[in-house]
Amino acid sequence: MKIFTITSAITVLSTLISVGLAQEGATPGGTQTGPSTYSCDPNTCKLPKCQCASQSPPGGLKPSDTPQFVVITFDDSVQGALLQTAKDMLNVKNPNGCPAKGSWYVSMEYTDFSLVQQWYADGNEVADHTFTHVGNPSAQEITAAKEMLHTYGGVPYGKITGFRAPFLNYTASTLSTVAQQGFMYDTSSTATLDDCFWPYTLDNGMANDCWTGICAAGQVKLPGVWELPMYAVMDNASTPQLMDVYLAGSMSDVTTWSQTNFQRHYTGNRQPFGIYVHPTHMTNYPGMPDVSALKNGVVSIIQSLAGKPDVWFVTNQQLLQWMQNPVPNSQLASQPYMQCNVPNTGKEICNGLQNITVSSDGLVQSPLLQNCNFNTTNWHTCYNCPNAAPSLDTPVPPAAVQSTDPSYRKPVPDNCDSIWWDPVAGQCLCTNSSCAYTDTAAPTNGSSNGTSANGSGSKSAAAPLTKPMLGGAVTLAVAALATLLF
Ligand SMILES: *[C@@H]1O[C@H](CO)[C@@H](O)[C@H](O)[C@H]1NC(C)=O
Ligand SMILES: *[C@@H]1O[C@H](CO)[C@@H](O)[C@H](O)[C@H]1NC(C)=O
Ligand SMILES: *[C@@H]1O[C@H](CO)[C@@H](O)[C@H](O)[C@H]1NC(C)=O
Ligand SMILES: *[C@@H]1O[C@H](CO)[C@@H](O)[C@H](O)[C@H]1NC(C)=O
Ligand SMILES: *[C@@H]1O[C@H](CO)[C@@H](O)[C@H](O)[C@H]1NC(C)=O
Ligand SMILES: *[C@@H]1O[C@H](CO)[C@@H](O)[C@H](O)[C@H]1NC(C)=O
Ligand SMILES: *[C@@H]1O[C@H](CO)[C@@H](O)[C@H](O)[C@H]1NC(C)=O
Ligand SMILES: *[C@@H]1O[C@H](CO)[C@@H](O)[C@H](O)[C@H]1NC(C)=O
Ligand SMILES: [Zn+2]
Repeated sequence: MKIFTITSAITVLSTLISVGLAQEGATPGGTQTGPSTYSCDPNTCKLPKCQCASQSPPGGLKPSDTPQFVVITFDDSVQGALLQTAKDMLNVKNPNGCPAKGSWYVSMEYTDFSLVQQWYADGNEVADHTFTHVGNPSAQEITAAKEMLHTYGGVPYGKITGFRAPFLNYTASTLSTVAQQGFMYDTSSTATLDDCFWPYTLDNGMANDCWTGICAAGQVKLPGVWELPMYAVMDNASTPQLMDVYLAGSMSDVTTWSQTNFQRHYTGNRQPFGIYVHPTHMTNYPGMPDVSALKNGVVSIIQSLAGKPDVWFVTNQQLLQWMQNPVPNSQLASQPYMQCNVPNTGKEICNGLQNITVSSDGLVQSPLLQNCNFNTTNWHTCYNCPNAAPSLDTPVPPAAVQSTDPSYRKPVPDNCDSIWWDPVAGQCLCTNSSCAYTDTAAPTNGSSNGTSANGSGSKSAAAPLTKPMLGGAVTLAVAALATLLF
């Protein structure tokens, strides 16, 4: 099967850049960023609302006082075996003793929403990667995913703050839609060497990927919306490798590149270091080649970065909390967003932290979960199954049971975080201000039916919901590999 990776895409792109910009004096080798019209005045653009693109740490911190953040992100559907791969990768600790956390850019097809909730309840980030994983998503594609993550995964709207474009194929129009829908950040662009910027706000436009023309004045100007560039690993031929770097060379080469680039950040300006993966590549499926060596290699790289007093494995949301109010490394351990308290609810509720088991063939089980079974999809939720399979036009159909039915689950209200919410009793088990949560986020902007904003996304580019996958893990793996590579 042909696997088109970002590796080859980037190689092609950098070739194009070298050729196209030769007259502009760009140096060959794929690291050039092209002419940029970006300009930003740090005297007027100030934290916490505004931040200029800069290679230097925010808040005037010296690099040696700055935490070295490592962001590990996962893309596409959340399934039992994939979640286990993610957990294996995050099996390291931060300097304050808390476990590493990661961000998942979730697309809806083949996703088991009970596992989305578990990922969230464990302190990780859930973010939007569209419903059907299309290359040029409509507003409806983005809204639909947000609604499903909330309705079936229980994630409060206000906690779904990030977006990554499928295939990283974002445009000015995608970014505008993301801003309109109230997201706090996008993370779809690439940072190489010249444009290895810390996260910044789009008040003054884009400063990464300028070779596409995206930085030109008037293209993108979205005050208060953050761009978190994805930090490339330069390989031994100075070609930027972005996602799934482990597919670009032997594990010993990949380890060398990763360590060299990590050191470039760590001994330089401490820009965040990224490890961006599709967990499908590192997950074993029956009947498929054994990829344990690949996973173990990546896990070893991650473990080799851990254990330093200033290296922190964080979600992109945690990184942004720090960006808005940067504190020296010595103060990071005590920041509220770096704590790891598990809620003590006093009773086992369906909040994602209960005993969910995933058997070796990927079956998810828990006595508290509802099993939503449609012809072609089978997933679980703490909330109500819909009365029909979700679709792009109707991502959240009415509940399968009436609200008067004894088995009806009460949706998470906007004055309780779902980690404290008992959807069976309809009760918030948080009783004091330390755990109180009020969700002020607008659920979505306008109709979930995509009538509020124009999108040009095409359903035909996506894997149809009717793709057969009832054959279990093998079909599922093939479907996932075939359609969900970015
Ligand atoms: C990326 O977006 C452009 C529109 O800007 C579209 O023409 C193209 O087909 C998209 N690419 C993919 C792979 O979907
Ligand atoms: C990069 O490393 C690979 C494998 O070790 C080697 O084959 C290749 O020649 C190297 N390329 C450069 C430009 O050093
Ligand atoms: C999971 O189940 C075990 C045994 O059935 C029980 O002891 C434990 O408390 C449960 N865990 C949670 C989080 O409820
Ligand atoms: C799903 O099952 C129903 C009833 O069994 C059937 O009428 C319908 O055609 C099926 N849909 C698909 C997409 O297979
Ligand atoms: C969404 O729009 C389609 C037509 O574009 C319509 O068939 C469908 O019923 C609408 N769904 C909702 C929930 O309004
Ligand atoms: C707040 O309430 C939660 C659950 O009701 C409890 O676990 C926690 O200890 C309480 N915290 C304080 C400071 O009272
Ligand atoms: C909702 O979207 C429309 C465009 O479709 C935009 O004009 C409006 O400002 C948005 N509202 C909010 C609250 O973002
Ligand atoms: C939305 O798209 C339709 C055609 O698909 C077009 O006629 C209309 O002008 C567009 N509206 C906006 C606000 O872009
Ligand atoms: Zn993807």
